[in-house]
Amino acid sequence: MALYSEKVMDHFRNPRNVGTIENADGVGEVGNSVCGDIMKIYLKIEDDTIADVKFETFGCGSAIASSSMASEMIKGKKVSEALTLTNKAVAEALDGLPAHKMHCSVLAEEAIKAALKDYYDKNGISYEESLFAEKE
Ligand code: FES
Repeated sequence: MALYSEKVMDHFRNPRNVGTIENADGVGEVGNSVCGDIMKIYLKIEDDTIADVKFETFGCGSAIASSSMASEMIKGKKVSEALTLTNKAVAEALDGLPAHKMHCSVLAEEAIKAALKDYYDKNGISYEESLFAEKE
């Protein structure tokens, strides 16, 4: 069996939503200290909805595929819905990731959460700290 699914390869080769957003409403940058990969997510939020999302990922193929898939999954969603996106859902949407690559999908979840936290902070929106608690 191939190590990576067709979907992973597709999103790695043709990543959706690569780039930056000028004057983004929320920006989140996270990294994995073990592998050194970095992911940055930019959000444009209108009427409490993710109107646009872009990302820059300096990392492995699984991290690029995860950020691409995650960006597609939150586009057009309400902020509250985007907050519930888990790395597991991203990996499932990619038809799975090898066990030792699951942490790459965690970066996508964390980067989106960091961007949403930035949006909340910039707009003085209150939230439960536990909402943004770090994953193991
Ligand atoms: Fe670091 Fe994939 S190996 S995010």
